[in-house]
Amino acid sequence: MAKSKSFLQNLIKSFKFGYCNEGHKEEDLERIAAQEQKIFPFQTLVAATKDFHPNHKLGEGGFGPVYKGKLDDGREIAVKKLSHNSRQGKREFMNEAKLLARVQHRNVVNLLGYCVHDVEKLLVYEYVSNESLDKLLFKSNRRESLEWKRRFDIITGTARGLLYLHEDSHNCIIHRDIKASNILLDDKWVPKIADFGMARLFPEDETHVNTRVAGTNGYMAPEYVMHGHLSVKADVFSFGVLILELISSQRNSAFNLRVDAQNLLDWAYKLYKKGRSLEIMDPSLASSAATEQVAMCIQIGLLCTQGDPQLRPIMRRVVVMLSKKPGNMEEPTRPGLPGSRYRRTRKSAALSSTAGTSGESDSHTFDSSSYTSASATISATPRSDPHGKRPMQC
Ligand SMILES: Nc1ncnc2c1ncn2[C@@H]1O[C@H](COP(=O)(O)OP(=O)(O)OP(=O)(O)O)[C@@H](O)[C@H]1O
Ligand SMILES: [Mg+2]
Repeated sequence: MAKSKSFLQNLIKSFKFGYCNEGHKEEDLERIAAQEQKIFPFQTLVAATKDFHPNHKLGEGGFGPVYKGKLDDGREIAVKKLSHNSRQGKREFMNEAKLLARVQHRNVVNLLGYCVHDVEKLLVYEYVSNESLDKLLFKSNRRESLEWKRRFDIITGTARGLLYLHEDSHNCIIHRDIKASNILLDDKWVPKIADFGMARLFPEDETHVNTRVAGTNGYMAPEYVMHGHLSVKADVFSFGVLILELISSQRNSAFNLRVDAQNLLDWAYKLYKKGRSLEIMDPSLASSAATEQVAMCIQIGLLCTQGDPQLRPIMRRVVVMLSKKPGNMEEPTRPGLPGSRYRRTRKSAALSSTAGTSGESDSHTFDSSSYTSASATISATPRSDPHGKRPMQC
């Protein structure tokens, strides 16, 4: 409503001040319309990134490279050049990007706009100055800057951002790829969830259901890996992995402490059952950690990563648990491990409907009865990409 009002005001303004000739008027109207729709001219992005110069490259994930840029008005931006293999057409992309640009929350990276130029599709984000959590957490010389209070704030901020995406944004947005590299930290260390909406911009293709499970190894819920079953509870699972990584400074996907455990979740769960969960804590946190709070977070991490998605809490409940003093919480059951089975309760057929509270569930959910067993797909990794993604194509 407010948006359309300002659009009208801009139009009126342009008439009020008058233009010398019709040509200018049209150009200006086009410019105003583009601004309102958050469209960036390609040339603006070329200028801002010095023609996508390699020195400006911030990194590259599964969707294409990201460049740092500066707009004429001084704003710093991050431009994501999407790889060309998206099957989505120009119009669909623009519609989705327009919707995603309306997503606004303190704990979600602001999508300033987008651009389509020939075959190129680009997304323009605010630049977040401390970059991504993985660059700090998994580098021994940098993780010192993450004392416990900061880590706890990252956990609570990310939980709030995810709750917003799931319940409070205009549509339910399932992230599908919550992980340390998609949590950016601003100059005040406020966490911001990046890459939301990729599930909408790169929708799963039902004809390629066997191979197009998209997410990142180590973070994906077993029901998603095994059955392609995507719901908000898959995000809750990934968030739980992130909590345990934040406490241990260990990557779940590269877990190699010589202990009797399959992965980080299994290790945390076994220690928890023995009443020794604090042993997973990164020793460098010992001086700054509030141990009761750490123990509470481990328990929440384990609740979020339970094998049965029905038992995992929704994000609203997680936010409530995090805001209370450590106290009574449910007992976590076994974590979901790739290839492990969970007993499906009757309600699980209704799970997919939680994916979209606004009737959007179809675009987020698919289920493949023909999906091969998880262990088969996991051991067959020759085509998995260097970014830790599951294979996207046959
Ligand atoms: N808005 C931003 N501000 C600052 N740095 C950013 C921004 N967006 C991305 N980056 C940086 O660019 C890097 C690459 O991001 P990208 O999202 O392409 O890769 P990724 O998160 O590792 O993988 P994925 O494609 O699975 O999300 C990130 O690790 C981050 O450091
Ligand atoms: Mg990313």
